[in-house]
Amino acid sequence: PQDNKKKKVLLMGKSGSGKTSMRSVIFSNMIAKDTSRLGATMDVEHSHVVFMGGLKLNLWDCGGQENFLAHFISTQKSEIFKNVAVLIYRTETEWERDVKYFEECIEALYSLAQEEQTETDPSAPVVPPKVWVLVNKMDIVGDGVASKKIKVFEEKRDEIERRCGAVGKRFGMDVGRGRGVRCFGTSIWDESLYKAWSSVIHNLIPNAALINSHLTHLRNISSCLEAVLFERQTFLVLAKSGSGLDADPDLDPGASTGTNKTLGNTGAAEDEEKNKVKAKAVMMDVEGLDEVEVANGARGLERKRFEKISEVVKGFRRTCQRNSQPFINLEARFDNASIGLDVLTSNTYLMLVSSEPWVEPSLLMFNIEQARQHFE
Ligand code: GTP
Repeated sequence: PQDNKKKKVLLMGKSGSGKTSMRSVIFSNMIAKDTSRLGATMDVEHSHVVFMGGLKLNLWDCGGQENFLAHFISTQKSEIFKNVAVLIYRTETEWERDVKYFEECIEALYSLAQEEQTETDPSAPVVPPKVWVLVNKMDIVGDGVASKKIKVFEEKRDEIERRCGAVGKRFGMDVGRGRGVRCFGTSIWDESLYKAWSSVIHNLIPNAALINSHLTHLRNISSCLEAVLFERQTFLVLAKSGSGLDADPDLDPGASTGTNKTLGNTGAAEDEEKNKVKAKAVMMDVEGLDEVEVANGARGLERKRFEKISEVVKGFRRTCQRNSQPFINLEARFDNASIGLDVLTSNTYLMLVSSEPWVEPSLLMFNIEQARQHFE
């Protein structure tokens, strides 16, 4: 088994599905329009990223041309699929062939996981590596009609979950929706990419539940509506409190209990029930979320606000860099809210949002400064 802080992340999928583009936008600050200049990946390209707490992601970008794909699941099978923490699979337009190849990858992944488990402790149940499937290029799906996009995405998601479930069953593993496989519709042209990657990262950081509980405490004592922790370079959301998704209930159903009971003014049991519904709505990315947010007194909150902030702040930082002005922090006052965003630790930024009229942005900045010692 690999070191707890080193995580192997496999990026797989057909050639041209956008694996290198996505990696470059998220980790190398590239803008979407420049990705058209990227060449095809030969064999496997390795890179690594160090996150908070020394968490190191080893990204394996596996070239998607047919000749490479054939080798990955035959002669290179154990090299590629051994010790995988996460498989991220990009799908594309040639759905039938793509999903067939996906199935072969999952089969290789689960069989290696089973072998590893047998080597270390044959009596323990096999925990399958988590799989994220990104249905990419959603910007060109459905002729710009939202309902068509949703329909296409849902059909693909259902098919992927069904196939994962069937392969898992052959290896005695219980996988399916909410159990080890998660699908996102993405495009490098909008914030959807940040949402998908934030979900991956949130699930890899080892002490996510503890971080969430500290964020919740800080949010409460600062009279804030939300506290959001971003990774400093990528601006991916690492953890958040106050928005009904303190933990990722999809892949870690137990984690949200205990950290998320302070929302609203109702009793703990009722809160928990509301949060479950709300978290489910977020997880499934369905319209129902707004209603639940209204029920919790948070009317008017934009559902995609976190990933939009990641995208906007990264773009703003790029503009600052172009003008030789380093981006340091941000504070803003709106009609109904104050926002403070500043460095928290060497790898993170913290954003505090308050709707209390007496809470000025400078107070939020002061609170972040005070929290620094505690989080470092
Ligand atoms: P291989 O390296 O051969 O495996 O391909 P790849 O999966 O790494 O694909 P790559 O990232 O090179 O992208 C191929 C093309 O798709 C590029 O021209 C990208 O600009 C384009 N592309 C990537 N993602 C998207 C997306 O979300 N929407 C649209 N419209 N185009 C995209």
